Amino acid sequence: MRDIAGKTAFVTGGASGIGLALGRAFAAAGANVMLADIETGALTEAVDALASTGVTVRGVICDVTDPADMEHAAQATCDAFGKVHIVCNNAGVGGGSGIEAISLETWRWVLDVNLMGVVHGVSAFLPHIMAHGEGGHIVNTASMAGIISGFGFSPYTASKFAVVAMSEGLALDLAPRGIGVTVLCPGYVRTRITESQRNRPQRYGPARIPAAGSRGSAIASDVAAMVQAGINPAAVASQVLDAIREDRLYVFTHPEMRAETEQRFATILRAMDESATKAGEIQ
Ligand code: NAI
Repeated sequence: MRDIAGKTAFVTGGASGIGLALGRAFAAAGANVMLADIETGALTEAVDALASTGVTVRGVICDVTDPADMEHAAQATCDAFGKVHIVCNNAGVGGGSGIEAISLETWRWVLDVNLMGVVHGVSAFLPHIMAHGEGGHIVNTASMAGIISGFGFSPYTASKFAVVAMSEGLALDLAPRGIGVTVLCPGYVRTRITESQRNRPQRYGPARIPAAGSRGSAIASDVAAMVQAGINPAAVASQVLDAIREDRLYVFTHPEMRAETEQRFATILRAMDESATKAGEIQ
């Protein structure tokens, strides 16, 4: 989609961090913007701040884990702006680290937000994009945690690997219909992701805090420090807009993580070679 000006962009997790930066970037590029978020106060502040700069922006409260909320958000976007062209399934939560601190409810929460939230977004918005026939673009926020694993954030990593995989499939499905797909894979970005528990609904029960001195606790504080030292969300948003204009599938904002990526794939290929040798020995 070469031209973003005059189009309508919808962003989940739009009240904070990368989502808010995306909203600002779309507005600066001349798009109408609908920000969606579960956090009412932060959403109102974000919409008011953007509106005060004279851009066309609206907000809708939406819990991405609820398909009905997402359908409502899609309808609200079309009611406000007539059509929707760009959908950023960006809302996400961290979910903790350390095997002893990850309850089944935490698994469900993280997968519901990070994976099912994306599924709900695609399901609710795609019919609206296809209906106007002007083409469109879907941006799914994954992470470098969707490319390389480790660190003991198993639910988060599982959700992000799934988002990368589904985006790759979606891109093949939608290309013939003139709808592009981008999967965003950042490393550390300076946002409130390590405070995700602020939006943990009661139905998922209380968060378990890793014991002081445990591996989980050490990982959590390391990651918090790396997020604080992370890149500016505005730099991420700028790369996403370029990818939409150039119809690129992957956005990698942290080239310094190439070595870890190579290491993962080299390990996998080595294991395949070893398996092939073993298979040859058996025949
Ligand atoms: P953030 O915490 O600043 O923003 C996340 C937003 O999602 C918040 O406004 C929050 O209220 C919203 N949200 C949470 N649960 C929701 C729900 N059920 N329904 C609707 N909205 C909900 O964090 P950040 O970093 O901006 O996160 C955005 C995306 O970027 C997430 O998918 C995250 O996994 C991803 N990401 C972040 C990285 C980082 O280092 N900050 C690195 C890689 C990926």
